[in-house]
Amino acid sequence: MKKRTTKLRLGVLASGSGTNLQSIIDACANDNIDAQIVRIICNNPDAGALQRAERAGIPRCCINHRVFTGRRGFDAAIIEQLQHDAVDLVVLAGFMRIVGADFVQAFPQRIMNIHPALLPAFPGLQVQKKALESGARFSGCTVHFVDAGVDTGPIIIQAVVPILADDTEESLSARILEQEHRIYPLAIQLFAANALKVEGQRVIIEQAWAGADKLRAEVLLNPPYTTKTI
Ligand code: GRF
Repeated sequence: MKKRTTKLRLGVLASGSGTNLQSIIDACANDNIDAQIVRIICNNPDAGALQRAERAGIPRCCINHRVFTGRRGFDAAIIEQLQHDAVDLVVLAGFMRIVGADFVQAFPQRIMNIHPALLPAFPGLQVQKKALESGARFSGCTVHFVDAGVDTGPIIIQAVVPILADDTEESLSARILEQEHRIYPLAIQLFAANALKVEGQRVIIEQAWAGADKLRAEVLLNPPYTTKTI
């Protein structure tokens, strides 16, 4: 494994309030990840993410998708900016636009996304609502590499969140979001440490992972019932 000698250069794309962005800003500031955000791009001029970028003093810009006639032009403008900033890894943090094939080719296996469900279940939009309505006992969140499909790329890390009897879309979303803020910095640090290798659809984590044995014993039940007969 080749060790990185300089900090990983991140370009973060966001559309909304930017709480995931904030978790990455904080992780960089606290030296929890060997990375620095060199550019934040929002497609929406009102995105809270832009204010967070300003507060943190990080270079930022708005590339508004509405001023482009098609996706290719919009993608090209973003690619140009990210290449100009010599970004090593593109981080989609609540970025509500689908990235096209040109974008994926410009940064092969160097684009990550976070999705508020346990992929491959519930790709697309409104997924917390869909998970709730499906009757599933667990949902969660996924960080994955971006490929040419929608929410289909190789999975890096997931967190499982139980769905509770009295959950609403809001309460479930809030508990999932809390876990998003934990796993996105972890996934970025695995990348920064050169610990990820993509083999087909699988991501192999090359570092010896101390927690693996513990995980083997950790099976979750929901409901967490016990019975004297089993
Ligand atoms: C998150 O749930 C993310 O997974 C989804 O949109 C939400 C964005 O949240 N794609 P934020 O902008 O990071 O607060």
